Amino acid sequence: MSKPDIHLVDAEHEIERQFRLVMRRLAGGVCVITAGQGEDITGMTVTSLTSLSAAPPRLLVSINRLASSFTAIARHRAFGVNILGSDQQALAERFSNGRLKGHERFEGIAWTCGSSGVPLLERSLAMVECQVEEIIERHSHGIIVGRLASMELSHRLSGLTYWNGQYVQIDHEADLDLLAEVSIPLAHVR
Ligand SMILES: Cc1cc2nc3c(=O)[nH]c(=O)nc-3n(C[C@H](O)[C@H](O)[C@H](O)COP(=O)(O)O)c2cc1C
Repeated sequence: MSKPDIHLVDAEHEIERQFRLVMRRLAGGVCVITAGQGEDITGMTVTSLTSLSAAPPRLLVSINRLASSFTAIARHRAFGVNILGSDQQALAERFSNGRLKGHERFEGIAWTCGSSGVPLLERSLAMVECQVEEIIERHSHGIIVGRLASMELSHRLSGLTYWNGQYVQIDHEADLDLLAEVSIPLAHVR
């Protein structure tokens, strides 16, 4: 490879590296996308879930086309969305652990099946079952548009985010307790 080519490759890598640094500044809500049926189930941790529109209710998630969940979603045309709470970091770690495969990720945890057959993780802040409306393949990822089929909302609020390469718990009640301890009037922080 000639010298100018090396410079081009280096410049591209540098832009990619800086892009990753930029994205680390963005806090993302942590979810587990679940997919498959019967013995053939899998799931993965994501932060790319977002609402597409409320009327009609549609959401989208960006999933690497090499991920086991991508194949399962494309085959079954359905998936589950499990929004994790502040006390569910262990689940996020389990569902992003490449050493655990498919149904191994569900061993020892509480889960149930939705009406479409997709697994759903109990005790999530919200569980949503989606039908696939569209899959848009771009570069390494597939943007999956989901049509809501059913949903279940927990009364719990405390959330789990991922920011700057680490999990951050948002526990509203604990935060208020902490503020009360340092004598800040609650009316000023709500
Ligand atoms: C906090 C966090 C967020 C992630 N978000 C995404 C995402 O939005 N899309 C994606 O394709 N992978 C994402 N991943 C990576 C997948 O969870 C991981 O590669 C997973 O092991 C893929 O499943 P597989 O091993 O069954 O293919 C994320 C990982 C972590 C730890």
